Amino acid sequence: MNSAASSLLAPIAKRLAGKVALITGGASGIGESSARLFAQHGAKVVIADVQDELGLSICDDKSTDGAVSYVHCDVTNEPDVKNAVDTAVSKHGKLDIMFNNAGYSDPETSDICALNQEEYKKVFGVNVLGSLLGAKHAAKVMIPEKKGTILFTSSSASVTHGPTSHLYTASKHALVGLTKNLCVELGQYGIRVNCISPFGVATPMVLKRGGIDKKKFEGIVREAANLKGVVLEAGDIAEAALFLASEESKYVSGLNLVVDGGYSTTNVAFTHSIQKFFST
Ligand SMILES: NC(=O)c1ccc[n+]([C@@H]2O[C@H](COP(=O)([O-])OP(=O)(O)OC[C@H]3O[C@@H](n4cnc5c(N)ncnc54)[C@H](O)[C@@H]3O)[C@@H](O)[C@H]2O)c1
Repeated sequence: MNSAASSLLAPIAKRLAGKVALITGGASGIGESSARLFAQHGAKVVIADVQDELGLSICDDKSTDGAVSYVHCDVTNEPDVKNAVDTAVSKHGKLDIMFNNAGYSDPETSDICALNQEEYKKVFGVNVLGSLLGAKHAAKVMIPEKKGTILFTSSSASVTHGPTSHLYTASKHALVGLTKNLCVELGQYGIRVNCISPFGVATPMVLKRGGIDKKKFEGIVREAANLKGVVLEAGDIAEAALFLASEESKYVSGLNLVVDGGYSTTNVAFTHSIQKFFST
């Protein structure tokens, strides 16, 4: 058998073999894709979410092969978060990867006059407090081991501005600041801290908020995208998380990995203005 044929038959390299991961918001969307991908790569995964039925259905799914378990956890409730970390440790003996991914997007637009304090509590509760608590309880078990990796899901709203609400944008900026500050504190213990900033992915969160279907949402993203010919999917963000969770990124810390096909590097307003000027 030639080497090309034998490499086709070779099993995929398990990039998280022997690792234990806890993923908040793992019952749906980006978290679910990450849980499935991490499990395929040899990790034991604990999903922490409030959607019990969905979370449990991933554990029962034959394709996850018993590698995924579920714990009910509202990330805004500290005892729940502590319990989720303790569950991962008592079940699997340790925690290597804490992926703080649970998120909430408010229905407000960018209208400061419509700012609503109840929505502030919800957005900052899930996105910021939930991530702080996840990092706190993960750090408590990782520090004595002198290793581990902590991830957050921020958003392209941390690098481009306008379409998302002030609350959501501010909360996702907070996660970039938290990533960098924590990277400084935890580096001495060998713990890496990074975040991922996705562009638009058709997940229940955005479809529900926008009141539109997958096809329509992907059409809008495709039209606005800098990188043409591909559609950003939850699995692409899971691949970024896999890289940051694995040893392949062993010297990467304090990074905001923007997965937006270059969208944030473009500002087409001037180009459009020139085109308009010369066409009239
Ligand atoms: N989809 C996008 O376009 C996009 C873009 C940038 C960033 N994000 C971020 O990605 C992350 C994942 O969102 P998604 O798009 O996969 O949406 P999703 O709705 O599919 O998943 C979000 C998950 O978070 C869980 N969750 C919400 N509140 C929770 C709480 N209090 N405690 C525990 N779990 C809770 C939900 O039950 C759900 O399973 C979020 O942080 C979101 O802000 C999404």
